[in-house]
Amino acid sequence: MKINYKTEKYALIGYPLSKTLSPFIHNTFYEKNNLNNIYLTFEIESNLDKHIDAMKVLGVKGFNVTVPYKKEVIKYLDGLDSSAEKIGAVNTVKVLDNKLIGFNTDGLGFMKSLERKDIRLKNKNILVIGAGGASNSICTSILENEINRLYIANRNEDNLNSLINKLEGNFISKEILPLSLDLRGLDKSSIDIIINTSSVGMYPNNGISPIDLNGFKDVFLYDIIYKPLETKFLKEGRMKGFKCLNGLEMLLYQALESQEIWLDELVSLEVERELLEDLYSHIEGK
Ligand code: ATR
Repeated sequence: MKINYKTEKYALIGYPLSKTLSPFIHNTFYEKNNLNNIYLTFEIESNLDKHIDAMKVLGVKGFNVTVPYKKEVIKYLDGLDSSAEKIGAVNTVKVLDNKLIGFNTDGLGFMKSLERKDIRLKNKNILVIGAGGASNSICTSILENEINRLYIANRNEDNLNSLINKLEGNFISKEILPLSLDLRGLDKSSIDIIINTSSVGMYPNNGISPIDLNGFKDVFLYDIIYKPLETKFLKEGRMKGFKCLNGLEMLLYQALESQEIWLDELVSLEVERELLEDLYSHIEGK
């Protein structure tokens, strides 16, 4: 990578950033495409407003926003695209004519990861575990499809109810049902897809799984965790012969969706595939 006065600047802001894979993904993408761009990280503990101003002043073309600023950033933006509006959180900002426009690519990345595995949501009964920020983006994307029923299971009932109320406000005709993590009352054999959006099973707590998989039949299991690549939840599912997917592809696709927004052009399938391989090697080599 050669840096000169013409190098276009992109960035990530959030806290903490010590574990982020985004610089690897974006800078590898720039290298592969021979772009004179660089993706930087700004780990910021406070003064979000000043940092956002700095992005503009320094001519940053676009930036990602991660925990804990995905909601707070909205008040400093000039506009939101419909994805960010519905979700109520922003992970991508594009600087256009000195105006800041917010997007959310988490749901798009999630949907693309299903598409690439040929998983269709139409008429499916889906169980989502967790009711935090990731669940919000994923459930919003799921509900944009003609699914049959969406169940959401969570530990904290208040968090669960507030997510369901919000989703019901955006999708009035959809059936969204609350569950506790013991899944009491659920006909497990009716479920087609289970998605873990909770942090249960994430490194360093590898030895736990959010739910008991006994009783499910022929389900597709998706864990958005990518560290470890195979959580206990996925391992138990694999032992039962279920199809499984970890969170690495969603991570890559949400990043590439940001690139498509910033560069205003589609990422080729070839680059996408190469980057996924690079990402696996990068993680496995660590
Ligand atoms: P994210 O933005 O990654 O979704 P989050 O908003 O903090 O992160 O949400 C984390 C999710 O993991 C929540 O659903 C949380 O459940 P609660 O609402 O009950 O807090 C869930 N979670 C985290 N630790 C958990 C644990 N030990 N057991 C069960 N659920 C847990």
